[in-house]
Amino acid sequence: MAKRTIVAMPGDGIGKAVLDETIRVLEAAGFEADYVEGDIGWEFWKKEGNPLPDRTIKLIEKHKVGLFGAITSKPKDEAFEELAPELKEKNLVYSSPIVGLRQHFGLDICARPCRTYKGNPLNFIRRGVGNEIEEPMVDVVIFRQNTEGLYGGVEWSNPPAQVYEAFMTHPKFAKNFGKTPKEEVSISTRIFTKKATERILRAAFEHAKKYGYKSVTLCEKPNVIRETSGMMYKMALAMQKNDFPEIELWNTNIDAQMMWLTKNPEDYGVIVAGNMFGDIVSDGFAGLIGGLGFACSAQINPDSGIGVFEPTHGSAPKYADYDVSIVNPIAMIESACMMLDFIEENEIAKKIRKAVAEVIEEGKIRTYDMMKMRGKADVIYNGAASTQQMADAIIEKF
Ligand code: NAI
Ligand code: MG
Repeated sequence: MAKRTIVAMPGDGIGKAVLDETIRVLEAAGFEADYVEGDIGWEFWKKEGNPLPDRTIKLIEKHKVGLFGAITSKPKDEAFEELAPELKEKNLVYSSPIVGLRQHFGLDICARPCRTYKGNPLNFIRRGVGNEIEEPMVDVVIFRQNTEGLYGGVEWSNPPAQVYEAFMTHPKFAKNFGKTPKEEVSISTRIFTKKATERILRAAFEHAKKYGYKSVTLCEKPNVIRETSGMMYKMALAMQKNDFPEIELWNTNIDAQMMWLTKNPEDYGVIVAGNMFGDIVSDGFAGLIGGLGFACSAQINPDSGIGVFEPTHGSAPKYADYDVSIVNPIAMIESACMMLDFIEENEIAKKIRKAVAEVIEEGKIRTYDMMKMRGKADVIYNGAASTQQMADAIIEKF
């Protein structure tokens, strides 16, 4: 079989350090591929007025699989300030390139697994009935709708007259907001479509079935957000009944779920949610298994076979310019394992996951976050492993 080409998109800040180390791990594990670099992020916004250049889109179209580090996003006004002077006249508006990528390629299925690693000093613990310390095993996969909802980008401040008038036809808008001057109103919409909702629900149920999870939990708020959450709930009920009777459907509200998160995280299996609630609940679960240094994700479009794999953390700009990178590469490495599963290189994925688990359990090599240190350049002198040393330790296990 021809060698695969992977589009490597380091992005900004710590994105490059974690991606470089991940590629080294992939190579050492025996994954044979070529890598082409895809430009994305703040640098390209500043220089070209576009953080997601067309050439990057073309690369992904061609090669289908991308590994992505992280990008930096800044608020509207700062984004404008940092544009190259010759671009300032052009009325450009910054928008997040990773959100752009998801929408352009319809990467509407986002999967974020959160599994406890044995021996991770950051594991969540709690007190049992007899006052003993319990360390629940978390094994959850969050399926987050990735292209719609509150992150769909349909929003206005001081909305155009036509939009405002349309909203005024809604009795609740007229009653509760109608007296506020239009200039003082900002609106962000939450749009769900049946097609995308069906796809994320089905992906969640299919995952539960394939990997033997006994339940799928819909985490929304249908009692209050009646139209969007309500539609999703109704569709989930029908899908469970018709197509997945062997899997239980649980229904939690996002606020209550965040409370139950620490009370009984071991009870949950697959969780499915819209875009924003999926984002929130996945960060919540990530906190139980070690935080951002461990939280990985896959974003895929099953129809086109395009997938982009990324850690859920951002570019952590304050650590970007250290001479020796201190951040934990495991979230990026685990994201690469999800990529390997996607392209059916399951054996290599297994090998890397096993090595990561061994290094964590052994506990000799730990990045600063695993030592509960504050992230500063001197953590290395205080015994924390660098990004590179963590990757080396994983490679040594092969
Ligand atoms: P962040 O995830 O970049 O960093 C938050 C904190 O988490 C860091 O200060 C650090 O203490 C810790 N952290 C993150 N990654 C780590 C790692 N691999 N190992 C150890 N510790 C780690 O989030 P923040 O500070 O809110 O945002 C920074 C920039 O990243 C912003 O411009 C934001 O817009 C962007 N961002 C980008 C994302 C993406 O590319 N998908 C996602 C989240 C934020
Ligand atoms: Mg997030």
